[in-house]
Formats: sequence, structure tokens, C-alpha cells
Amino acid sequence: MPVKIAPSILSADFARLGEEIRAIDAAGADYVHIDVMDGHFVPNLTIGPMVVKALRPHTAKIFDVHLMIEPVDPHIAAYAEAGSDIITVHAEATRHLDRCLQLIRSFGRKAGVSLNPATPECVVEYVLDKLDLILVMSVNPGFGGQSFLPSALEKIAKLRALIGNRPIEIEVDGGVTAENAQSIAAAGAQVLVAGSAVFRTADYRSNIAALR
Ligand code: DX5
Ligand code: ZN
Repeated sequence: MPVKIAPSILSADFARLGEEIRAIDAAGADYVHIDVMDGHFVPNLTIGPMVVKALRPHTAKIFDVHLMIEPVDPHIAAYAEAGSDIITVHAEATRHLDRCLQLIRSFGRKAGVSLNPATPECVVEYVLDKLDLILVMSVNPGFGGQSFLPSALEKIAKLRALIGNRPIEIEVDGGVTAENAQSIAAAGAQVLVAGSAVFRTADYRSNIAALR
């Protein structure tokens, strides 16, 4: 299976977001990764549900929405109704992860769990049947352009074993480059998020191709 590429629009030009999404769609992106930051769980503020809704008509590609909000549960409905396809919450940002995942699926959306670099893979062990995606953070969330933390590779491999043959995707987020993409995929990841590596030059098509 070839790896999927999910450009993070955190590194896009925020004054032209609709246009930027159409450009990464045309350049071969698989998912559109949307980083939602609350200025509390992470030290930055980004995209509300109204913006997600406004972007929805610009592409038919999967909206992969990464919620860095604590507490996250009260915001799930708004992001589901805004047109998210995958809604990923942080295991560290909900008191009742099992209930939160059920809530996401109750809207007919795919449910993801993200793990910060210091969070062990075992936190998903008892919710594997309620999960469609696991997002392994390979940087501390909050900003684009940070360096990949190599400890993520071991976590990906351990998750791969834990998942077995369940239909759960492993996605990796933070510091992904054309140089480390291969080792991340070899560890067992199927989806690579990339912000700076995609948007660093105007040729999004070749930046995406280099990651693949
Ligand atoms: C970090 C975000 C990432 C970020 C990745 O909190 O979740 O999606 O945009 O950016 P790069 O690829 O530049 O590390
Ligand atoms: Zn992200």
C-alpha cells in the first residue's frame, strides 16, 4: 500500500485558504489535515468550525481534523456538522476517551485518537474497536516547523502490533520530511501529515511526490 499524504494547512497562506486547499487537492493530497488549536491545550490558536465549514466546498478530499482542544467533547458536534470526515481528539484532552469516540461515531464521522510524544501507546488498548485512526505526534503539538522526535518510530511499531488486523490507520504528525518519510512508513505508518514539507515551496506537487 502506498503511503497517504495529508498536507497540514497550518503552513498554508491563511489569507488564501480556499485557494490553498484547491491547490493541494490538485497536487495529489490524499487528506486535508486541519489543525485546530485552542490556546489552552496547546499554546496557539487556529481554526474554528465556521472556517472548516467555509472551506468544505473547496474540495471533495477527506477533511482530517486534528482537535487540540481541552476539554474537547463540547466541540465535537460543531466540527462534525462543519463537514469533517475524520475527527481526531487527544487522549490527554478528554476525561472519557471511550465516550468521546462513541460521540464522534454517532455523527457518522471516523474517530481518531492522537497521542502526544510522552503518552504511551497502551492508552488506546481498550478502545481499539471504537477507533478508525491513531495519530502519533512526532513533535509536541502547537506549532509547525519543529524537528521529528525519533521516539515516535518505536511507538508506531508498537501500535502496529497492538492493532493487529483491525482496520485502523496509523498517521504521523510533526517534522515529517522527504528524508525521514521512508523510515516512518517502514515502522508501520500509512498516513503522513506534512506542513512545512509541503508548503515550503510553490511546487506542492513535487513536494508531495517527494514525501511519497
Ligand atoms: C502540530 C500540528 C502539525 C503541524 C505539522 O501541532 O499538529 O500538523 O502542522 O507541521 P510540520 O509538518 O511543519 O511539522
Ligand atoms: Zn496536526
